[in-house]
Amino acid sequence: MVIHGPNLNMLGKREPDIYGTTTLEEVNRRLKNLGDGLNLEVETFQSNHEGRIVDKIQEAAGTCGTVIINPAAYTHTSIAIRDALLATDMTVIEVHLSNIYKREAFRKKSMITDIAVGQICGFGVQVYYLALEAAAKILKCAISS
Ligand code: DQA
Repeated sequence: MVIHGPNLNMLGKREPDIYGTTTLEEVNRRLKNLGDGLNLEVETFQSNHEGRIVDKIQEAAGTCGTVIINPAAYTHTSIAIRDALLATDMTVIEVHLSNIYKREAFRKKSMITDIAVGQICGFGVQVYYLALEAAAKILKCAISS
C-alpha cells in the first residue's frame, strides 16, 4: 500500500523547484509497473484528509504487509496517523520527496520516523521507487525466514 498525504495530488504543478515536475499519476503508474517486476501488488491512495488516511490504514491492515507513506504536512502533526500505523502489523516505510532536514525547522520533526523501519527523503520521486525495492526485500526476507 502506498499512501500519499495532502497536496500530493498537485505533484508536478506544486512548487516544482522543490517537488519536481512528475505528476502523481506518473508516480503511481511507475510504482505499479515496478511492482509487477518485483512480484508485488501495489495499491496507491491519496487524500487531503487526515481521517480518510486513518481509514485507509485501518483498511489496508488486513491485506497489506507493508505501507509506504508520504504523510506530507501530516508528517509533522498527526498523532492520529501515527496511532493508526501503530495499531497495525504493517511494516512502515516513510518517504519524502524533499530533504525535510534541510528545510524549515518545523519540517525536521516527524511523528512517523521512530515507528518506521526506515525513512527515505530528498531524492524526489525516486524515494517511492527506492522504498518499493526496500519493501520487496523486507517482504522476501519475511517469507524466506
Ligand atoms: C513532504 C515534506 C512535507 O514537509 C510537506 O508538507 C509535504 C511534502 C515531501 O514529500 O517532501 O507536503 O512530505
